[in-house]
Amino acid sequence: MCGIVAYIGQREAYPIVLKGLKRLEYRGYDSAGVALLNGNGLKVYKKKGKVAELEDHLSGKDVGSHVAIGHTRWATHGEPSDRNSHPHSSGNGKLAMIHNGIIENYSLLKQELLKKGHVFNSDTDTEVLIHFIEEIQSSNQCGLEEALRIALKRVVGAYVIVLVDEDNPDTLIAARKGSPLVIGVGKGEHFLASDASPIVEYTKEVVFVNDYEIAIIKADELILKNISNERQTPYIQKLDIELAAIEKSGYDHFMLKEIFEQPQTIFDSLRGRLDAKSGTLTLGGIREHAAILSQAKRIIIVACGTSWHAGLVAEYMIEELCRVPVEVEYASEFRYRNPVVGEGDVIIAVSQSGETADTLVAIESAKQKGAIILGVCNVVGSSIARLSHAGAYTHAGPEIGVASTKAFTAQLAVLCMIGLKVAQEKGTITQQRFQHLLDELDAISEKVATTLKLNDQVKQIADKYKDARDFLYLGRGYNFPVALEGALKLKEISYIHAEGYPAAEMKHGPIALVDENLPVVFVATRDSYYEKVVSNIQEIKARKGKVIAVVTEGDQTIPGMADDVIEVPAADELIAPILSVIPLQLLAYHIGVLKGFDVDKPRNLAKSVTVE
Ligand code: M6R
Repeated sequence: MCGIVAYIGQREAYPIVLKGLKRLEYRGYDSAGVALLNGNGLKVYKKKGKVAELEDHLSGKDVGSHVAIGHTRWATHGEPSDRNSHPHSSGNGKLAMIHNGIIENYSLLKQELLKKGHVFNSDTDTEVLIHFIEEIQSSNQCGLEEALRIALKRVVGAYVIVLVDEDNPDTLIAARKGSPLVIGVGKGEHFLASDASPIVEYTKEVVFVNDYEIAIIKADELILKNISNERQTPYIQKLDIELAAIEKSGYDHFMLKEIFEQPQTIFDSLRGRLDAKSGTLTLGGIREHAAILSQAKRIIIVACGTSWHAGLVAEYMIEELCRVPVEVEYASEFRYRNPVVGEGDVIIAVSQSGETADTLVAIESAKQKGAIILGVCNVVGSSIARLSHAGAYTHAGPEIGVASTKAFTAQLAVLCMIGLKVAQEKGTITQQRFQHLLDELDAISEKVATTLKLNDQVKQIADKYKDARDFLYLGRGYNFPVALEGALKLKEISYIHAEGYPAAEMKHGPIALVDENLPVVFVATRDSYYEKVVSNIQEIKARKGKVIAVVTEGDQTIPGMADDVIEVPAADELIAPILSVIPLQLLAYHIGVLKGFDVDKPRNLAKSVTVE
């Protein structure tokens, strides 16, 4: 949610920052802006709309500079507009700041500043913070670093901020609490960004800044301090991302590329962990906690959005395999409703980004109450991963498309392995079933590749139904969360109203929607609910609904009833969602594209929701 990028060094800063903003645009695209510092002083340019509009606005202007900060915005305080865009400036115009996060007590601070004569040019919380820092600087007669430290002690909320100061053109100052900040360490240069994607082209050496740390960055020096002004040693890590992983590589959209990457990403999530031949499963990240996990009184999965859907599949898997109660919670509800949680509970936090604010805060409070936290994250070094006691990365590679696809299937693979590992530890699974599921997981990447060959067929179905006003997605058992995920994908990408429902629950309300204009997508692969789902399909057909069914290859029954049938390879019902979700991802993608929408940057959304 909002992308920030900055550069200080010997190169031309603007092209680096601009390219970085394009890479971070998935985090928000309501407006974009840059501040450039050179011998002629500080210049701030900003524009409502996507980064391309800022680029047009700056074409032909003098953008020469070796120090720059840039921002791409997902609006929270104040509508998307030029004046609400970042960077924001201090009253004297000497400071410029970019910010990702929310200053919750900005209104109180603003009242104080207004009384002191400050004039504001935007509706943002960010502009209040930069004026507050400026006010402290002048009233305390102190330098920027000291003023920032004092200001942050009064600030309530989450932030990553980066400041440039016309009077100190060789220094950037940054601070973090609750939002991500990565610093790339080059030779005589530093790069700052919300994630590693703008940095990886230039250096693989990075420092993940921690909460309550302030970084003072010059071209050839990086100083980290905590909020009490004590020096911290920067921990330099090596990035394991290649540039190709964050580029479209010939695909029209990141979303399509990421859908098609799934055979490889699922393989990567299993690699080094699962060895079907020897019948072994090794999850290094949870090894030390395996005993605690197996003794858990209860497992609570917290997540949001697509990750929550993966959590719901995991509830079914883990309860079946491990015979332990599992609850799945929306992180945003869990964090506020004072849940009963404590020692003996294991929390599994599922998050692609590892930065989702609600999930992060939910696990922080559960950790304080004594629960063990297991992180299932995709982004290495992310806040949730670092806050967790143990965990397993999904290794799906950078996911840039705002609609999550490959992260979901990798989450399912990893959560299944966790379930298997705990079941083995607890002795709640037979050796035969354990081996069968290892074999099934081992074969899943190939089956995903086979499923992707349905792309053209799904595109035709998309064309047939693209003008529908509403869609219903139905499934039972392991396929119920898949129905929810299919509906979410369609809503996000095509702006068509879609509801996911348990197929049997449909009779208790949504069936009233069914008529000849309503496409109903059934996720109806062969599993223990199959016969029941067939009856549900008949109930829809009896009311003239249009049925699109995702079935198992060779199904002899449903093709005789459904209007359109998509056949996926057979798989054990525990892992069948990894296959059955793929046609639904493709359906949403093609409908979105056919309707002319920007599927990688759907309106109002951002990839990483780092505000509440
Ligand atoms: O990064 P996370 O997995 O924590 O993100 C959770 C949701 O914000 C995310 O899944 C969102 O729902 C996606 N746009 C779904 O496609």
